[in-house]
Amino acid sequence: MSARTEAAPSRVGTWFEERLRISGLLAAMLHVRIPVSAQTYYLGGITLFLFGVQLVSGTLLTLYYKPPADAAYESVKYITSVVEFGWLIRSVHHWGATLMIATVVLHLGRIFVQAAYKYPRELTWVVGVLLLAVTIGFGFTGYLLPWDQKAYWATTVGTEIAGGVPVIGDALLYLLRGGADVTDATLNRFFGMHVLVLPLLLGLLVVVHLTIVHQLGLASPRHLEPRPERRGGPARPVEEPLKPFFPHYILDEVIAWFVVLAALVVLASVLPAGREEEADPLVTPPHIKPEWYFLSAYQLLKVVPRTIGILVPVVAIGILLLLPFLDRNPAVAKRRRPIALSLAAVSVVVIVGLTVWGAQS
Ligand code: HEM
Repeated sequence: MSARTEAAPSRVGTWFEERLRISGLLAAMLHVRIPVSAQTYYLGGITLFLFGVQLVSGTLLTLYYKPPADAAYESVKYITSVVEFGWLIRSVHHWGATLMIATVVLHLGRIFVQAAYKYPRELTWVVGVLLLAVTIGFGFTGYLLPWDQKAYWATTVGTEIAGGVPVIGDALLYLLRGGADVTDATLNRFFGMHVLVLPLLLGLLVVVHLTIVHQLGLASPRHLEPRPERRGGPARPVEEPLKPFFPHYILDEVIAWFVVLAALVVLASVLPAGREEEADPLVTPPHIKPEWYFLSAYQLLKVVPRTIGILVPVVAIGILLLLPFLDRNPAVAKRRRPIALSLAAVSVVVIVGLTVWGAQS
């Protein structure tokens, strides 16, 4: 018998344990230890939290939103001006989307800088890039739903760009629009994607992502993973000081979630989501602008020939997806990765530059 005094399980706890047998699973999920040097800045967890916020606020919006094109605009107007706290829920959903894209990009950035995509985490990275694509897909499909001028024309331009992708362009354009133009059929497709297909896909990918993260443990930003088979020698596990994931890390993570929630409510209250005139396919507005995360691609298209403007983002996404297999340098320390870090810095400067330029023009 152990010398330690174990807390006796409550009767309720015993009742559930006898029927579910999940204490082993919970222990395996919670009682993991993480490297003391691992710095996540809680970004993956915050992204997950924001996904939860989007699911709750989006479900509430769906109670009143109507997807037919002749009712969509009025239903958003109704949510904003008649439904109690409707404007707040809509604004939280609006800002939640922006913050989620920002945190997922920052999460990717920290993984890159700390070289956490290298062996054996290549698949965690690939699933992560798919998560990024689905998150952006949420933004793209959600933008059309208010069916105002901005939504209609940004989607017209966005789907036109998709139509320019070599080989599959025409099929992609038709698939997205449900016809040659942006119509009621497009709105219905985007609604279905936004509230059903993408949430299921994101949920599934998150489960896969977190299962792999759990299985491998967090990467240490200081040491290479032991990889004896590559060095041709015996395993030399690095002694890494560890700390418990539960409750220490989890508690800090929850505090970060509260801070993000507070920021979200302040943003939503001070800068509520707006609405333009109802969509009119016959009146092209003078300035069509996509959301900020598409501005760099949009601006690039304005300044280079169309084929190049479409090919560059397609190739960039391919490089991002395959990065762990393209970057063969096994080093983790920043000073031993000058090429990767310099190329990334140049890419960030170009993307930010194009975004600022696009916002001003
Ligand atoms: C909806 C999007 C995403 C969610 C909810 C998510 C969630 C998480 C969480 C909770 C972790 C644990 C550590 C941490 O919090 O940083 C993690 C780790 C990781 N994520 Fe993500 N992630 C997402 C997208 C991405 C993206 C876009 C990438 C990169 C392309 C990525 C690559 C990784 C990798 C490689 C790890 C392991 C890091 C390590 O071992 O230190 N994730 N993710």
